[in-house]
This record gives sequence, C-alpha cells and structure tokens, in this order.
Amino acid sequence: MQVFREKQPLIQAIQRIKSDGKSIGLVPTMGALHEGHLSLVQNALKESDQVVVSIFVNPTQFDNPEDLEKYPRNLEKDLELLKKEKADIWVFSPTANELYGDKIFSQNFDFEGLESVMEGEFRTGHFDGVGTVVKHLFEIITPNKAFFGEKDYQQLQIIKKLTRTTGLPVEIVGCPILRETSGLARSSRNERLSSQHRVEAAFIYKTLKTANQLFGTESAEYVTNWVENQFKSNKHLKLEYFEIANSETLKKISTKEKGKQYRAFIAAYANDIRLIDNIALDN
Ligand code: PAF
Repeated sequence: MQVFREKQPLIQAIQRIKSDGKSIGLVPTMGALHEGHLSLVQNALKESDQVVVSIFVNPTQFDNPEDLEKYPRNLEKDLELLKKEKADIWVFSPTANELYGDKIFSQNFDFEGLESVMEGEFRTGHFDGVGTVVKHLFEIITPNKAFFGEKDYQQLQIIKKLTRTTGLPVEIVGCPILRETSGLARSSRNERLSSQHRVEAAFIYKTLKTANQLFGTESAEYVTNWVENQFKSNKHLKLEYFEIANSETLKKISTKEKGKQYRAFIAAYANDIRLIDNIALDN
C-alpha cells in the first residue's frame, strides 16, 4: 500500500500505470471506513489494474460546521482496514489546500433538478460540494472507473449526470448497499449510534421492505401515508422524509406508469444522528 499526501507524485505514478496500458479504479471516500467501503474496494479490485482510494473529509459538502468538525477522522485505522484486502492499494489523502488550492469553494452545478429534491432540499449546497470534490478527484486521478455505493443513491445519480455534462471519460459503477445483520445499511454514522438506537434503526429497512411489498398493489400516496404513520408510532426514530421517486429522474411520483422504475427513499434521525436508506421498488 502506498499513501500519497500530495497530488504530483500520484499524478506521475498514475501516468506510469496508464502508459503500460493498465486501468485505474477509484473509490472516493471520506474515511471512517467500514465493510461497506471495503465492498466498493473489492469491486474496484476485480475491475481495475490499480485501485486508488481517496480519503478526504470534504469541507464544501457540509452545510453544518458542527457536523464537519464531528466527522470521524482516523487515517491509521482506515489504512489498517484497507490492509485486510492484501492488495497494492494506493491511498490519496490530501489536505484541503492540496486538493483545492488556496481558495476552498464549491462550483455551482445544474444537475437538472436531481440536486434539489430529498437530500438537496434538506442539505443546502451539499451536492455542489460533492460535485466539486468529485470533479477535482476525477481530474487528478483520471480513473477509468469510479465506484459509488447505492446507499447514497441520489449522489450516485448526480455523479452520473456530472460525468455526462462534463464529458469526463470515467465509467460510474453503482454498487449494492451492504447491510448489518439486522438490515441496517452500513454507514460511518452507525458507530455514533447508542447500542439501543443501533438495534432500533433496523426499523428503517424493515419499513422499506414492507413499503416495497405494499407498492405492488397500492398507490404511492397510500404507501407514503402508511410509512409516515409507522414512524409516528416509533418513539426512537424521527422521520425527515419518505419519498417514492422515479429511479432515474428522482422526481416524486403521484401515479405509477408501466415500464418505469421506482425507488423509495428514507431519511430519519436517531437522536442527532441522521440515517438514510433506499430500496428499489420491484417487489
Ligand atoms: O460518499 C462520500 O463519502 C462522499 O460524498 C464523497 C463521494 C467521497 C465525496 O466527498
């Protein structure tokens, strides 16, 4: 494993790899790695000659300074976890100035509405920050493929749009959500849950699975009301939103149309910890 703190040596190493006709797979992360990230790395190892994992807590995607400050950072622990893969992974872990230069700011993107629903509605400027950092990473690392988890499904759709609009030649690979045994989607935030909340949070996926079954026969409105009522009677979790949307446009639906694909999305709080999850509605 090699750790690069600066862009130039990484750029040169990548040029050497590419001049041998080999491919680069990128797994962008903000650290606090867990099994979910490792599954992205495993997919990247299967599909690329050289894997680069970026570990960078990106300040421009946080709308809340306290959240940014509290975000867990432990590079040593992350490197230990990556060593479990027993592969020559390259890690890119720059400072904010190394990545952004002197001025740390977000570019404004038009993701044709993908950015303004759900997470975008509740986290102002979040996707401009994500788009900005991912574009920088793609320009520096020039990956052939980049791997993103479907847990952040809206982010995945936005990154696909980003590559289409910028013309950056990278294939975006969406990877399935990895879950704890209880069904709770793996997330760096799970570590911050109390042991009771970690058990109670399994309710999110359980509700999504039932919503999927109900959607087979019921309308989106019926399923939405049902989910909202389930959360009203749960004293451990507070629902922020539940939405049924078109899987591609992420537009909220009122009526189902034949041949279209839909997905259900949840954001909920366990105390001050915000959890998100989603499911394909394919019953
Ligand atoms: O999903 C994440 O961890 C981040 O949003 C990403 C894609 C690494 C950008 O900072």
